[in-house]
Amino acid sequence: MWQSLDVTTICNGLGDRQRPVAGPSGALRASKFAPGVFVLAALLAMMSLCLCTVSACTGNAPDQDTVPGRWYTANQVVSGEALYQTHCAACHASDASATAEWRTPDTAGNFPPPPLNGTAHTWHHPLEVLDNSIANGGIAFGGVMPGFAEALNDGERMTIIAWFQSLWSDEIYERWQSIDARSRD
Ligand code: HEC
Repeated sequence: MWQSLDVTTICNGLGDRQRPVAGPSGALRASKFAPGVFVLAALLAMMSLCLCTVSACTGNAPDQDTVPGRWYTANQVVSGEALYQTHCAACHASDASATAEWRTPDTAGNFPPPPLNGTAHTWHHPLEVLDNSIANGGIAFGGVMPGFAEALNDGERMTIIAWFQSLWSDEIYERWQSIDARSRD
């Protein structure tokens, strides 16, 4: 029965029903009359239910918190990895390490996909530039990467960036952070 009740309803309801038994006189009455004890116990149970679910009441569930020191949540990283494997891994490798020789063009003069795992120069780009590279691809600039503006919406592209940034060391991430901050001035 308790599980089926909406937490907000219980918490709001408690505000009104708590007052009559608050304070020593309320507790005294409750100890004299068996029904009073029952009501008190029920109220205490409801109160602890509200305390346990206080994060649900305020909307700050732990899985919505950002990863310490980073802009993204752990949930974004998980979603981003799945999308990355579907859309990007074929060229950039499943661990985002391709291509080691990213500075060397092929015989047709095209540069291979660079690693996104923090070992190449991806971290030199602010968040907006990274997002634009993914949305628009490189064809307009003489490259070969297709654009993903239609296949992936803004939020989805952000989760992919979150995932490959989760592969970056703190040092690389901090260097990127100051480049990104400067771009927003
Ligand atoms: C068909 C192969 C291919 C696919 C698929 C692909 N990329 Fe690329 N990517 C490239 C190549 C090649 C480049 C280098 C620029 C160019 O030639 O367009 C590149 C460049 C990039 C860059 C710029 C990196 C930098 O250091 O400047 C980012 C970011 C990027 N890709 C992310 C992604 C993401 C995210 C996906 C999946 C949504 C993806 N790519 C899918 C081939 C690909």
